Amino acid sequence: MLSGGAGSTGDVGRGTVEADVAVVGAGPVGLAIAWRCAQRGLRVSVHDPAPGSGASRVAAGMLAPVAEAYFGERELTGLLTESAARWPGFAAELAGAAGADLGYRTDGTLVVGLTADDLAEAGRLWSYQQGLGLPIRPLRPSELRDREPALAPRVRGGALAPGDHQVDPRRLVAALRTAAERAGAVLRPAAVGALSELAARVVVVAAGCGAAALTGLPVRPVKGQVLRLRAPGGGPPGFRHVIRGYADGEPVYLVPRDSGEVVVGATVEERADTVVTAGAVLRLLRAAVDLVPELAEYELVEAAAGWRPGTPDNAPIIGALPGRPGVLVATGHHRHGIVLTPVTADLVAELVVTGEPDPLLAPFGAARFAGRTGPVRAPSDTEEETCD
Ligand code: GLY
Repeated sequence: MLSGGAGSTGDVGRGTVEADVAVVGAGPVGLAIAWRCAQRGLRVSVHDPAPGSGASRVAAGMLAPVAEAYFGERELTGLLTESAARWPGFAAELAGAAGADLGYRTDGTLVVGLTADDLAEAGRLWSYQQGLGLPIRPLRPSELRDREPALAPRVRGGALAPGDHQVDPRRLVAALRTAAERAGAVLRPAAVGALSELAARVVVVAAGCGAAALTGLPVRPVKGQVLRLRAPGGGPPGFRHVIRGYADGEPVYLVPRDSGEVVVGATVEERADTVVTAGAVLRLLRAAVDLVPELAEYELVEAAAGWRPGTPDNAPIIGALPGRPGVLVATGHHRHGIVLTPVTADLVAELVVTGEPDPLLAPFGAARFAGRTGPVRAPSDTEEETCD
């Protein structure tokens, strides 16, 4: 694209071209794209009034291509698997470049059911996942308890997804910011009201839900409420695996960190507010304590709500914006922004440099939503169909 494609005459916005690439959005996806582009010697600016304050601020950081392989999402599962395979190298390179600990852990994920009904629901999904050839295997109850003695005795059964890992999204964002800046990217902490404000040869819109107002693409907010607990005594939590479970029909996940933090998530609500409700907190805590009773003794440190950027098919939009030469988008990552960060950054940087989309991106182009535009005006918190 920079070597003679649509963007080479530049100049998506007005005025003197200040950067080869202007990235809108300093969440993990935007920062990783900026880092990869800067590593290739491009002049990069990143525009965000509050870096790391979007979905990643509340995200749990599960890298779960297997446990989050859902019915009817085969193409998305392929991209999740591809990105998860890049995570070990990405994490090592980033930790080195930033001199930072990302909280990247490879203990694996347990999927469990509290009651017979819960186990039936979980088992139906992992049978589907096994059918796709994904690495997940049922455990005998004794194996489950040997692996994770903190599980409640009445948990009926479960399965292990050994390749589903985790990272701390807040540490990830800080590390990406350091790495991108060390590679030469310049962070501009200001809001972008319209793409015409940006004087760059290529603009990449990686603004999560904010992409809707900037591009007209149908990206909607999907509210998630999330809790953070802390183990007593300053030690680590009493369990090591990520635990994803169903407890009396309530889906919940528990993500333990070395710092003593446990993330408990999350609601999935088709709403555009960020209110933390008593009912949601009650349901999440009840499900969490039903699965791991010791959590009742933990400190409740934080209750927060954020927005996942969802698209009509819940898969991301990555690639050129039709009808807007020089504009690329990387948004709509919905429940998978953290796991999809490496592959999105690699493929967008490649597209910026070569103008050629990788075949992996074919199912995820914006053209699949032709005629299904979202809002192009600035949204507000109270509007259920919009996001910012
Ligand atoms: N990927 C977990 C969530 O979106 O809640």
